[in-house]
Amino acid sequence: MEHTISIKSQAERKVTDTKSLPFGKIPTEHMFIAEYKNGEWQNAQVVPFHDLTLSPLALCLHYGQTVFEGMKAFVMEDGRLNIFRMDKHYDRFTKSLQRMCMPLVPQRLFKDAIHQLVKLDSDWVPREADGSLYIRPFMIATEDRIGVKVSDEYLFMVVCSPAFQYYTKPLKVKVETTYVRAADGGTGNAKCGGNYGGAFYPTQLAREAGYDQVLWTDSVHNEFIEESGTMNAMFFIDNVLVTPQLSGTILDGVTRDSLLTIANAKGITVEERQISYNELIDAFEAGKRVEAFGAGTAAVVAPIEIIAIGHKEYKCYIEPDAMMYQLQKELLNIRKGIIADTNKWNYII
Ligand SMILES: Cc1ncc(COP(=O)(O)O)c(C=O)c1O
Repeated sequence: MEHTISIKSQAERKVTDTKSLPFGKIPTEHMFIAEYKNGEWQNAQVVPFHDLTLSPLALCLHYGQTVFEGMKAFVMEDGRLNIFRMDKHYDRFTKSLQRMCMPLVPQRLFKDAIHQLVKLDSDWVPREADGSLYIRPFMIATEDRIGVKVSDEYLFMVVCSPAFQYYTKPLKVKVETTYVRAADGGTGNAKCGGNYGGAFYPTQLAREAGYDQVLWTDSVHNEFIEESGTMNAMFFIDNVLVTPQLSGTILDGVTRDSLLTIANAKGITVEERQISYNELIDAFEAGKRVEAFGAGTAAVVAPIEIIAIGHKEYKCYIEPDAMMYQLQKELLNIRKGIIADTNKWNYII
């Protein structure tokens, strides 16, 4: 079914200087909103950003039926706007919605919503080299009924916020062996709200101990590395790029996939497999050069300087000639249109 998106523009707020503000604090001028009722999507519109009115009985407030995505738009070298890998984000959104028993959004509606919103708010896409527009599509269950059930009503929305460098310095992470983020059969590979709420407490403990993030381990052995915060974990050891294989417990990261594709094309050996913290200890103790980094839309490549395993801290290689920076640069250059987009990742507005 075709959906027409109505656009109500209202130039009230001026583009503000958001560089000094925390990530995601300032929304752009407009947002997209559509309602799911009686089994169909209706009232699709781009409207001035505003607060929602929800019944206190709305199911999302009680049982966590929420799913979201996170992607970015860039100003390219030639001034055009590019939304990076919208199709892959759509596929992941769809999988998350299926896992959470939520209605799917037609691909056309998803893409048109983002296209129209970003086009209207294009002045908010930062022109600076380290800037981008963070795009947050999300869905919440809105039926007002306090009983535990799958909601019959939803809102699908898209909001945007200018984004700059996410981490300003290399990270210190702690391998987490007490708490787990996800277990087999759970929701670890869905981008649903509860996964994040459940991760806050262990992450807070790690912060209190002086670390930026935890490196999650598997729920059975507490030994194999999973991912970190809102990033997939990657390592470059002995000239091999190693990252945990996709499973039901980690997110199928778009940045992860992009970096693996770039590395493969460069002839770098890539291994998607289990990697235990013991393997890391062995590499550090053998005096090997270990690069470790997080890969995610918000941070792109976040170098890890220190990994704490048990009571010992190990130092990773973060010098300017590290491989991770080369991969990062290539990814940035594709998005900016500086080098050819051979994989057709860019959606040009
Ligand atoms: C738990 C988790 N892992 C990994 C990622 C990285 O995924 P992507 O590269 O698609 O942003 C994210 C961010 O979306 C995340 O929330």
